[in-house]
Amino acid sequence: MPPADTTHAPSATSDPPAVEFRAVEKRYGSGPVILDDINLTAAPGDFVALIGPSGCGKSTLLKLIAGLSPITRGELLLAGRTSPASLSTSATTPNTPADDLAYVFQEPTLLPWLTVAANVALPLDLRATPPARRTPLVTAALALVGLAPRADYYPRQLSGGQKMRVSIARALVLSPQILLLDEPFGALDEMTRDRLNEELLAIRERQRWTAFFVTHSVAEAVFLSNRIVVMSANPGRLHREIRVDLPYPRTPATRRAPAYHRLVDEVSQLLRSVEDIATTPPEPETRNPKPGTVPL
Ligand SMILES: Nc1ncnc2c1ncn2[C@@H]1O[C@H](COP(=O)(O)OP(=O)(O)O)[C@@H](O)[C@H]1O
Ligand SMILES: [Mg+2]
Repeated sequence: MPPADTTHAPSATSDPPAVEFRAVEKRYGSGPVILDDINLTAAPGDFVALIGPSGCGKSTLLKLIAGLSPITRGELLLAGRTSPASLSTSATTPNTPADDLAYVFQEPTLLPWLTVAANVALPLDLRATPPARRTPLVTAALALVGLAPRADYYPRQLSGGQKMRVSIARALVLSPQILLLDEPFGALDEMTRDRLNEELLAIRERQRWTAFFVTHSVAEAVFLSNRIVVMSANPGRLHREIRVDLPYPRTPATRRAPAYHRLVDEVSQLLRSVEDIATTPPEPETRNPKPGTVPL
């Protein structure tokens, strides 16, 4: 077993950042600024939680990382390389995420007519992976989420938590470098959510992706991440970052630690302050392009 990561810090290597936003702006078409002057660098292995008022652009930020929508100003680098979202112009909007990146949504989006194993194999089918390679990858992904015994079940035979585990297995089957999770456990009851949080971190001990995790739950953000980014709205900005210096591996005992409760309080207060701002009317647009940003 690898030694426990007790420092939370990603390994000190010369690897380029997994994700780097440099003065990124996002508008949809000719609409208003949705994300403004986003500067954020995630090292390989970082677990970044994004939290903020509804509509502040959390899902949009994930879409930019995935290359599903182009940025309109600034630069976005993935593993030191210009991302598809940066390269595109309005004429060539990217629409296919890279192989080394996976998405998990709040809805498990399983195909009801396929077995659990066949659902997990979908990303491999799309890449025409030979059957001989496919089976061990699917088996390993199902084992990661503890669902190997349910491989031949259909989605309707699973609980909500089990469906979400299948969705996670499908995301992990290609061993992604970057895992994007958009409120994945938001529809689950609290006990199931706590359990899945623990399982997700246990998987992280074995597969070292960089995670961006959108949530409305402060407790979940503190439990999972080593960095919490609190966003404000109108336009979406990075309001404050909080480092979560709780040691990994985190366990149910983590939730009883005084340091955990202090962080939950601190982030809750920050969130309340940005939500108060979000309910006041936005200022008229007076912004000029900032020097140093690169117009596309
Ligand atoms: N495809 C789109 N076209 C136009 N506007 C969009 C699109 N997607 C999201 N938006 C707008 O961008 C803003 C941020 O949305 P979103 O990223 O979904 O926020 P969050 O995930 O924080 O709730 C919202 O005002 C939303 O209406
Ligand atoms: Mg969203």
